[in-house]
Amino acid sequence: MLRRALKLRPLLSLHPSSSFSHLFSSSSSSPPPGISSGNFIQLVAGKSDENLSISNPTISIDRSGLCNPPEHCHGPTSDSELVKHLNSIIKFRGGPISVAEYMEEVLTNPKAGYYINRDVFGTEGDFVTSPEVSQMFGEMVGVWAMCLWEQMGRPIKVNLVELGPGRGTLMVDLLRGASKFKNFTESLHIHLVDCSPTLKELQHRNLKCVDEEYISSSGEKKTISQLAGTPVSWHAAFEQVPSGVPTIIIAHEFYDALPVHQFQRASRGWCEKMVDVKKDSAFRFVLSPAPTPANVFLAKRCKWTMKEEVDKLNQIEICPQAMELTESISKRISSDGGGALIIDYGRNGVVSDSLQAIRKHKFVPILDEPGTADLSAYVDFEAIRHSAEEASEDVSVYGPITQSQFLGSLGINFRVETLVQNCETDEQAELLQAGYWRLVGEGEAPFWEGPEEKVPIGMGTRYLAMAIVNKNQGIPIPFSEAKPGQT
Ligand SMILES: C[S@@+](CC[C@H](N)C(=O)[O-])C[C@H]1O[C@@H](n2cnc3c(N)ncnc32)[C@H](O)[C@@H]1O
Repeated sequence: MLRRALKLRPLLSLHPSSSFSHLFSSSSSSPPPGISSGNFIQLVAGKSDENLSISNPTISIDRSGLCNPPEHCHGPTSDSELVKHLNSIIKFRGGPISVAEYMEEVLTNPKAGYYINRDVFGTEGDFVTSPEVSQMFGEMVGVWAMCLWEQMGRPIKVNLVELGPGRGTLMVDLLRGASKFKNFTESLHIHLVDCSPTLKELQHRNLKCVDEEYISSSGEKKTISQLAGTPVSWHAAFEQVPSGVPTIIIAHEFYDALPVHQFQRASRGWCEKMVDVKKDSAFRFVLSPAPTPANVFLAKRCKWTMKEEVDKLNQIEICPQAMELTESISKRISSDGGGALIIDYGRNGVVSDSLQAIRKHKFVPILDEPGTADLSAYVDFEAIRHSAEEASEDVSVYGPITQSQFLGSLGINFRVETLVQNCETDEQAELLQAGYWRLVGEGEAPFWEGPEEKVPIGMGTRYLAMAIVNKNQGIPIPFSEAKPGQT
């Protein structure tokens, strides 16, 4: 029984007897038991925030809490560099900006964006992600990547791409776990795609990278991760990753950070929700009086779903960047071989209104102090599937399945048992089991005896996993039993 507040991630060194090579033979195991501007119309809020009660835990919140409807009008914000910048865009543009443009500026503005200058993860940061919960997450993703590499015919050169690696923790655990499989690790060139110079430095440090003195013909220094002797390169966008080599792509909690457009049904049809600035410099939501360029993407998205389902909705969120990124991934996998694994929170269907802001493990209003809270939105897995399939006939899409099914089928239950057996203290064992439960469990932790407001919430069913693979590779584990596109 756990009698103390959860600390996160006891990293257990990989004892020789605790290698996860046995997981290859247990890939068919079932999931753990029990898991199953002037012209614009101001938008009036008036929605109660009934989900705030579940979103108040003060430690280690993940960002998948149920859609958290924002308040739509807020008091004056401080004049930070980002606030001034947003004000000036709206002023010089002569009118409001889309929610997507607001989100993009807030998260990734090169000078003052949320992700640019800080480490936002962990109990000291704003939220916690699965790789930060337990080393087992990165290890299991490593098992998935190695199995795909096997299915690809063990190519001697592979680009292993991670989109939005955060602190680099997933890749660290993947490489540590895979370090005994020399043929695999020696084939790898790691490509990390991230917009944040601060996080890039952290990734460099955590992956134990050394920059070699030798400067290549392209004028670049080679960087090697000492964890497995693999070369590492950084890029600002996926399209910059060199092509022509079989590729394995991992996107964990990356898609949810891509900017979404929000639409609201009005008597004149679907109107885009925009961000405007009031006379006192505070931001507010308004509705566009006429169709906007994003209406093209709305029409495309609606074609992929039943009319009756759309008719029931008063709000729709769409993510054109997710559609475009998926098209690029699909084309790359089609031409170079390989596959992609996308794990995120979201739904296998149209998303209505999910944009949320999180600061210090609490939900806060979206327009408050932009740049000081994380913004994220549910991932629309149905749109990802259609985007991938329309981009290339050479790829198949599998899932989404729940994170619990994904990790369970890859053998996380065997892994946790092995690690627990090698624990030196009861506390280590309890923390490992709590991390395991957090990754695969559902709802509030039944074993929790600490303060109610700190009860850990399971991520097992709220996070979903989807794979896009080149048809030549066959069916990727553990999606074997699901037909392409099936939940
Ligand atoms: C929510 S974090 C996920 C981190 C990590 N995958 C994890 O699970 O711990 C999002 C990551 O994506 C990066 N990111 C967000 N938007 C991006 C963009 N448009 N282009 C490149 N990187 C981006 C951030 O810097 C951060 O590393």
